[in-house]
Amino acid sequence: MCGIIGYVGRREATPILLDGLKRLEYRGYDSAGIAIHNHRGINIKRSEGKLNRLEALVRKDPPEGRIGIGHTRWATHGRPSETNAHPHRSGDIVVVHNGIIENHAELRRFLIKKGHEFSSETDTEVICHLVRYHTDRGAPVMDAIKMSLEQIRGSYALVIMNAKDPGKLYIAKHGNPLVAGFGDRENFIASDIPALLPYTKKVLFIEDGEVGVVTSDKLDIFSVDGTRISREPERIPWNPLMAEKGGFKHFMLKEIHEQPTAIEDTFAGRLIPSKGTIALDDAESLFAGKKLPFDEIDIIACGTSWHAGLVGKYYIESLARIPVYIDLASEYRYREPIVGKRTLVIPISQSGETADTLAAVHMVREKGAKVLSICNVVGSSIARASNAHLYTHAGPEIGVASTKAFTAQLAALLMLGLYLGRRVGNVDSSFLRERIDEMVMVPRQMKAVLEKASCVKKIAEGTLSASHVIYIARGVNFPIALEGALKLKEISYVHAEGFAAGELKHGPIALIDRGVPVVAIVPKDSTYEKVLSNIEEVRARGANIIAISTNGDRQVAEKSSHMISLPKASWFTTPLLASLPLQLLAYYVADHKGTDVDQPRNLAKSVTVE
Ligand code: AGP
Repeated sequence: MCGIIGYVGRREATPILLDGLKRLEYRGYDSAGIAIHNHRGINIKRSEGKLNRLEALVRKDPPEGRIGIGHTRWATHGRPSETNAHPHRSGDIVVVHNGIIENHAELRRFLIKKGHEFSSETDTEVICHLVRYHTDRGAPVMDAIKMSLEQIRGSYALVIMNAKDPGKLYIAKHGNPLVAGFGDRENFIASDIPALLPYTKKVLFIEDGEVGVVTSDKLDIFSVDGTRISREPERIPWNPLMAEKGGFKHFMLKEIHEQPTAIEDTFAGRLIPSKGTIALDDAESLFAGKKLPFDEIDIIACGTSWHAGLVGKYYIESLARIPVYIDLASEYRYREPIVGKRTLVIPISQSGETADTLAAVHMVREKGAKVLSICNVVGSSIARASNAHLYTHAGPEIGVASTKAFTAQLAALLMLGLYLGRRVGNVDSSFLRERIDEMVMVPRQMKAVLEKASCVKKIAEGTLSASHVIYIARGVNFPIALEGALKLKEISYVHAEGFAAGELKHGPIALIDRGVPVVAIVPKDSTYEKVLSNIEEVRARGANIIAISTNGDRQVAEKSSHMISLPKASWFTTPLLASLPLQLLAYYVADHKGTDVDQPRNLAKSVTVE
């Protein structure tokens, strides 16, 4: 996720772009840049770090001009640095981009052969070189953009300037948001409405597959085949704060709803359905050689990321038959773990800054272990301390309660399990194809689950008076029960515990009394009958069952007070789907109670102290 903005009109562009970027900073904040076009050409200013560093740089020598583009970055390809910051330039062509170009490596090789010199590690830089490649061969800019889009695979929202073409911003969209704003002899283009609201409420959403030209007095939009498109702008009734949250009441709710995109982006360029293969970026460097250079895997993490690690153990052990040990980083680092050159250590962390996880990484590196990190923040401390990375591409997570980062971690771990399974010969090509086909469907299935939000809201209203809530599940969904309980605890302050359903009789069933809500995850997998028996046991003691089951399951419907059903899925992808109603349940309980959902008491987004 990144924020992009463009302005063309009667005022100085620099302050408008900087103001817009400030309002888009929630979309990314590891580097930022602007490009201003005036009679001398295009002047680019970029800076690593948050926007205030770019502002300081610009203050020293503000670029003048009435047309420009800006970008605030959330790194996906290439660490956060000034050279990787947007805008990127090749000759006269200057580009800002939000999205992921999946075939960037192949295009980069092609362009290098044609004599193009690259100055960054980003996927975006191929776009400006590709457009220039076509303009150098005589194509008008718009044609060059369209030809480039035909060669690109992936997602993009693009704003492009051409030094030879003053007064025009070229735009294109596929998969990432882009919205135009209309003013008085000035027009705007941005990733999201907050950047536009101080200037106009008259907007037009650009659709996938559209390209266009923005000038100070109009916006022309076309489909890629050149057909002119005409659509009426609409008026946005939002205030700036609502807009920042995309119309959602809280960042957490927005992030819950962003999960289909987070999963799509985490799979992008790695799941290759056409070939039936999985590619794992630089992580593959750790698996070189005939035999894998490690005998076991240690996963270390805290909180929600630890729950993802627990799911990872099920995936990797089942798919690759490699022993996986999982530990809380705060325990691991103090318990003298047996770790050495033949151990692969996988730290999992959304922020990449969690103190205990980071300290554990330093410790295992000293002992000679190789480290493959699964982080959401590119270039974070844990990522930098690792030998290789498998980044989740969930975009910035602002709400303290982790939601989209969690399911993106599950997606990364499933890809890793399948990759290793294939690598050691435990997974054959047809099994892998089946899994890939199923994984590709997850974003769509997630959307279907999220459509049940109003039903979850009603269930939450009925759960409000409970002083504690029990979550049960078996197998790969046991960690999802733990995660569901953590979500409820941390944002609603209601006591909640997750249990492996088979453990109930060993103690926890004593907690069951008339009316105690028991959230049971009971999909149609190999543990189904057993969880069903556990439901009977707690029901007989008066529990109020809230079941997360599979569509059309009558047996579960009869036994439960409420049921939220999931689309049919195998045990591999069910955890990604089952997480959503649990996040929504916690959210609505907290919202009804009126707690500070995005910043719950006593908690911080990133725990950088022990
Ligand atoms: C999750 O909702 C929590 N906020 C917390 O448990 C979090 O997952 C934990 O602090 C680890 O953070 P990390 O993923 O950034 O390392």
